Amino acid sequence: MLKITTSHTASRFLFCLWVLCAMSLLSAGSLVKFVSGNMSPESTGGCRLWNTSLGSKATCTHLDLKSVPHDLPSNTVILDLSFNKITTLFNSSFAYLPEITTLALGSNVLSKLENGTFKPLAHLRELSLLNNRLVSLPSGLFCTNHFLSTLILSKNRLSSIPSDALPWSNSTKRLDLSANNISFIDSRDLKPLQNCSLESLRLDRNALSSLPPNVFAYLSTVRSLILYKNNFTKFHPSMVLGGTVITDLHIDSCNIHEIIPLNKSHVSLGEWGNISEIFLTANMIRNIPDFAFWGFNQTKIITLHRSQVASLSNRSFCGLDHLIQLDLSYNCLATISLDMFSCNKMLQKLKLNGNKIARLSIGAESGLSLLYQLDLAHNNIKDIESSGKNVTFPSVEYIDLSFNKFTGIRRFLMDGYTNLKFLNMSNNDISNTYSQKSFISLRLLQELYLTNEHSQNINKAFRYLGALRVLDLSFAPLKITSISQFTNTSSLTRLIMRENSLRSTDVYHIKTESSLFLGLDSLESLDLRQNKLDMLAPGTFNPLKKLRILYLSQSSITVLSRGVFDSLTALTTLDLRNNEIKMIPELLLQTQHHLAVLFLINNKLETIPRILFNETTSLHSLFIQQNKITTIEPKTMFPTKTTLKLYASGNPFSCTCHLSWFVKWLRSGNVELRNREKTFCSLTSIKEEVNSPILSFNPDQYCGTDIVMITGVSLSVVLVVAICLVAYRKRWWLNYKLFLLKLAIFGYEEINQDLDAQDYEYQLNIMCDEGDEEWVDRIMRPMLQERFPHLQKVIFGDNDLNIGMFYINALHYATDNSFKTVLLISYNSVDDAWFLTKLRIALEHLNDTRLDKVILIFIEDIQDEDLPYLVRLFLSKNKPYMLWTDDEDGQELFWAQFEKSMRANKALNSVIPI
Ligand SMILES: *[C@@H]1O[C@H](CO)[C@@H](O)[C@H](O)[C@H]1NC(C)=O
Ligand SMILES: *[C@@H]1O[C@H](CO)[C@@H](O)[C@H](O)[C@H]1NC(C)=O
Ligand SMILES: *[C@@H]1O[C@H](CO)[C@@H](O)[C@H](O)[C@H]1NC(C)=O
Ligand SMILES: *[C@@H]1O[C@H](CO)[C@@H](O)[C@H](O)[C@H]1NC(C)=O
Ligand SMILES: *[C@@H]1O[C@H](CO)[C@@H](O)[C@H](O)[C@H]1NC(C)=O
Ligand SMILES: *[C@@H]1O[C@H](CO)[C@@H](O)[C@H](O)[C@H]1NC(C)=O
Ligand SMILES: *[C@@H]1O[C@H](CO)[C@@H](O)[C@H](O)[C@H]1NC(C)=O
Repeated sequence: MLKITTSHTASRFLFCLWVLCAMSLLSAGSLVKFVSGNMSPESTGGCRLWNTSLGSKATCTHLDLKSVPHDLPSNTVILDLSFNKITTLFNSSFAYLPEITTLALGSNVLSKLENGTFKPLAHLRELSLLNNRLVSLPSGLFCTNHFLSTLILSKNRLSSIPSDALPWSNSTKRLDLSANNISFIDSRDLKPLQNCSLESLRLDRNALSSLPPNVFAYLSTVRSLILYKNNFTKFHPSMVLGGTVITDLHIDSCNIHEIIPLNKSHVSLGEWGNISEIFLTANMIRNIPDFAFWGFNQTKIITLHRSQVASLSNRSFCGLDHLIQLDLSYNCLATISLDMFSCNKMLQKLKLNGNKIARLSIGAESGLSLLYQLDLAHNNIKDIESSGKNVTFPSVEYIDLSFNKFTGIRRFLMDGYTNLKFLNMSNNDISNTYSQKSFISLRLLQELYLTNEHSQNINKAFRYLGALRVLDLSFAPLKITSISQFTNTSSLTRLIMRENSLRSTDVYHIKTESSLFLGLDSLESLDLRQNKLDMLAPGTFNPLKKLRILYLSQSSITVLSRGVFDSLTALTTLDLRNNEIKMIPELLLQTQHHLAVLFLINNKLETIPRILFNETTSLHSLFIQQNKITTIEPKTMFPTKTTLKLYASGNPFSCTCHLSWFVKWLRSGNVELRNREKTFCSLTSIKEEVNSPILSFNPDQYCGTDIVMITGVSLSVVLVVAICLVAYRKRWWLNYKLFLLKLAIFGYEEINQDLDAQDYEYQLNIMCDEGDEEWVDRIMRPMLQERFPHLQKVIFGDNDLNIGMFYINALHYATDNSFKTVLLISYNSVDDAWFLTKLRIALEHLNDTRLDKVILIFIEDIQDEDLPYLVRLFLSKNKPYMLWTDDEDGQELFWAQFEKSMRANKALNSVIPI
């Protein structure tokens, strides 16, 4: 039947935990559940056992046991036998379990206990017999349990206090006799407890109808006496007064109709008790007589909540010299004067809410110089009557007048409360225009609530409230006659203007560029929900440099202008829920570096601008549910500082390859998609993904590396290569055509050499290396004769030079006297010193004449690095050169260019630095 489980390592800790748990359950009067967290039993049939450092713990609940098991470990210290069917306990029942400290026998059917049942349990500390059928207890039952500290006898059928059985030990701290049938107590009944250190005695839910005077006199240590739900009908203070140390007296719901005050003359107050709190809630005391609580000289708190009190006299509470708090809420009081509490000079807190008070007079004589909180909510007050004189209550800091019948706030209404910090006048019938001086005397007011009125015209009434921190004007149409309403409320941190029928034009005058919020230098939270702010102009929020929280939901906003939040650099929370926003300007949040939470739920957004969040590095929660977002553009910037919590359900995401980036980002670990199973792919998705959660969409499966893109790219590469190839093969033809085109367009306009070629001795001077003369003879000469028959005076290389001169001079002469000089460049020539000399001569001549008289002709393609410095210099100055090729088109181009350059010499405006 028994199964043993151990948890060596955690045993000590678990034991402590268990003891704590057991104790709290015991003290709550229901040792019902002894289920121990995560220690799962190996057998559900028998008791569950755990070894602890102090001994074994056994839980044998719900086993239909009819008697105490015989085979528990003898070192059992904690035993729970609750919820079984044990009817009788015998002297022998626990004889073999002498170590037990905690024993729970709740919810059995015990009706008989032998007088030695608990005798073996010398260490017993806590015993619960909750919810059994005990009618009486045998005498001497606990006489050996010297350490018994908690004894629970609640929910049995005891008809009297089982005084013969009660502990003779001085350890007992808590005794619970609640929910029995005890109808009478004699002071001798409690005598066995006189040496106890009893702290709490529960006698609630019994049938007590009266108590003899001084009945609790033996209870020298009990502080909390709980007597609620008995049937006293009349409350005699003498029942509970006496030389006790009771501090809390609970006599709620005791059917009390009448308080019978002590006979003043017979009482010397000095001896009377210490009761500091009296709970009299839910009785039926229509009338509180004079000196009702005479004798409760030390009482600080009296609660008479919901006790049908209808009348008080000016002396009802006299004698309560130390009363600090009086709760008369939810009674039937109709007329109240503060004079009724004038005996209670210490009174600080007076709760009169929930009565039927129509007339409230502030008596001049009340002398309540410490009163600081006055709760008058839920009455029928139309006005507060001052008794002619200018009574002031400098101590009052808190007044609640909500749910009354004020129709306005007249000029002097609050003048007496010069130190008022909190005023609630919400839910009245106010519909008037406030006087500019309505609140003039409340210069220290910190919180003002004026919600749910008919309508309000605030008319600069707040101009004197320089200390105001919280102002709530919600739920009433608000009339704003001038835009400067808050210019002096510079301490305001929270302004709530929900459902005030505000329009965009009420909060910002575009013409004068002035904002309703001017002056709110300290404002941290602004609530503008449920107004009609369709278009918020930039500038609206400009004065709010410290604003952290801005509520703009349900405000019919359709357009957010680009700079509208620019001044709100401290913003942490922005609520734009339930508006009509279609588009967000991408630069909307460029200054919101502290923005942490953004609500955009239920708008008409179709997309999130790619850089919307590039500056909001603190954003950690983004709510974009219920919009019309189909896709998120690749590389949209989301904050990366913390893991972003993204709420995006209810959007028609189109799970196609275009969404790949977003889906991959969702899986990246920088973001936590909330409600992921409700974030679906819409009908416009790839067919297989329609209606499945967006996170189950695997783009790679469909898009791999984007096939369309790859094919597109490869096709274009092929095409380009092909074109290049064709162009390369046809390059000369193309060049030629381009050249002709250029000629056709620009003609010869840039040519401005007046001199005719005929003015020169030679029309053309061809200079070349010896090795290239063969090429000249083979190609140049015949072609020139064929194509340019007019060129008769040509020097074809060294052979045609003037033989009467030295070579160098002849070269100079030829160059100087030719219309054009052509130099043939080839691998032969670039290596030849003489050729370089010719080149130098030609270039010098070019510089001298400032005429573009030199042409380079490459008769073969030469690598750049093989070109002589002078050639490179020449080419770098954009000077004409031509390339001879074997390609026919190339040759056509060559001759066309040649022809062009033979027509004229352009003037040069710069020299070549040789
Ligand atoms: C618990 O302790 C008892 C006595 O020390 C021992 O006999 C028993 O084996 C222990 N149980 C387990 C499950 O270790
Ligand atoms: C317990 O009861 C028996 C008889 O049932 C009696 O002899 C004995 O004296 C009682 N013990 C005490 C301590 O009252
Ligand atoms: C209980 O009484 C014993 C002697 O009977 C005494 O030693 C002990 O201090 C007392 N304990 C309390 C809590 O009064
Ligand atoms: C309370 O006591 C009165 C008489 O004192 C009696 O009439 C009434 O029935 C009792 N109520 C209950 C609930 O016992
Ligand atoms: C109430 O008790 C205090 C001492 O605690 C005493 O000074 C005062 O006079 C008492 N009040 C009355 C009305 O007797
Ligand atoms: C009360 O004070 C107001 C202004 O402070 C003054 O006009 C009025 O005369 C005063 N009334 C009385 C009765 O002193
Ligand atoms: C965010 O985008 C804006 C506009 O393109 C740019 O001026 C700014 O520098 C960007 N900021 C960051 C942190 O990239």
